[in-house]
Amino acid sequence: MEQAIPSRTALSVALRRAAHQLHDSPVVFADPIAVAILGATYAEELGRTPLRLDRPFSIGLRAFLVARSRYAEDNLRRAVASGVDQYVLLGAGLDTFAYRNPYAKLRVFEVDHPATQQWKRELLQRNGIAIPDSLTYAPVDFERQSLSTQLRTAGFNYGAPAFFAWLGVVPYLTLEAFRATLGFISAQPAGSGLTLDYGQPRDALPIIERLAHDSLASRVERAGEPFRLFFTPPEIAAELSRFHSLEDLGAAEINARYFSERSDQLAIRGTAGRLLSAWL
Ligand SMILES: C[S@@+](CC[C@H](N)C(=O)[O-])C[C@H]1O[C@@H](n2cnc3c(N)ncnc32)[C@H](O)[C@@H]1O
Repeated sequence: MEQAIPSRTALSVALRRAAHQLHDSPVVFADPIAVAILGATYAEELGRTPLRLDRPFSIGLRAFLVARSRYAEDNLRRAVASGVDQYVLLGAGLDTFAYRNPYAKLRVFEVDHPATQQWKRELLQRNGIAIPDSLTYAPVDFERQSLSTQLRTAGFNYGAPAFFAWLGVVPYLTLEAFRATLGFISAQPAGSGLTLDYGQPRDALPIIERLAHDSLASRVERAGEPFRLFFTPPEIAAELSRFHSLEDLGAAEINARYFSERSDQLAIRGTAGRLLSAWL
């Protein structure tokens, strides 16, 4: 990411989550703040966000983005039920969980690139969304700063388990930054958990899907946030060897879990993106 510029991909995924609230029924991911956080600033862009049912790639991407947020919060519920009371959003973007947190004891830490976090805070203020006492911001550039130090400054409790959501971030990192962050998560106490999404390398995809991959890759590159890191399922399983109960969902499993019995065409297309959860 460029140093002083907020993440354009964070806006792009937030626009799709907001469009989901407005145009898909029933919603897979209910987010009553998704539209409000964009406010008047992005209302016009929200109106232009692709919804066309004859554009399968666009629908499939929207489906993947709402499924991953839903999956993270489904796993968070499980973590909270087993006693976890810290939630860390790594690369939080315009995620709104912290502003609708239903768990009385859950403390939330939003970690993000400083420029993106500053932009989000301005948007929240402009749109009258209150910052709850349970939320702490921790600005971190994963490529340049220590997550551990910044979370310590933010008051993160290292003695207690935590649940981590790392959504839409892994493909933008170097392998070194990915491993440093994962190393930090792996060192957390038993009972901690993680949800992330990742993309498979281009040459692991069926030929027909490589065009969609190239199109998305060139869009994020133009946004100044090029894809840098992909994994096959065995490769990411090897990175997560210290975790147990690994669940790695492909398109068919995600569609069966979240998009069956719909009368519209909202569903994941293609096999590139995967959702993963793992526990310590
Ligand atoms: C595609 S957005 C996803 C945002 C959010 N997780 C969501 O699902 O809406 C990518 C996020 O990763 C963050 N990010 C990318 N590279 C980063 C880095 N080196 N350090 C910190 N954050 C980074 C961006 O600031 C942005 O918030």
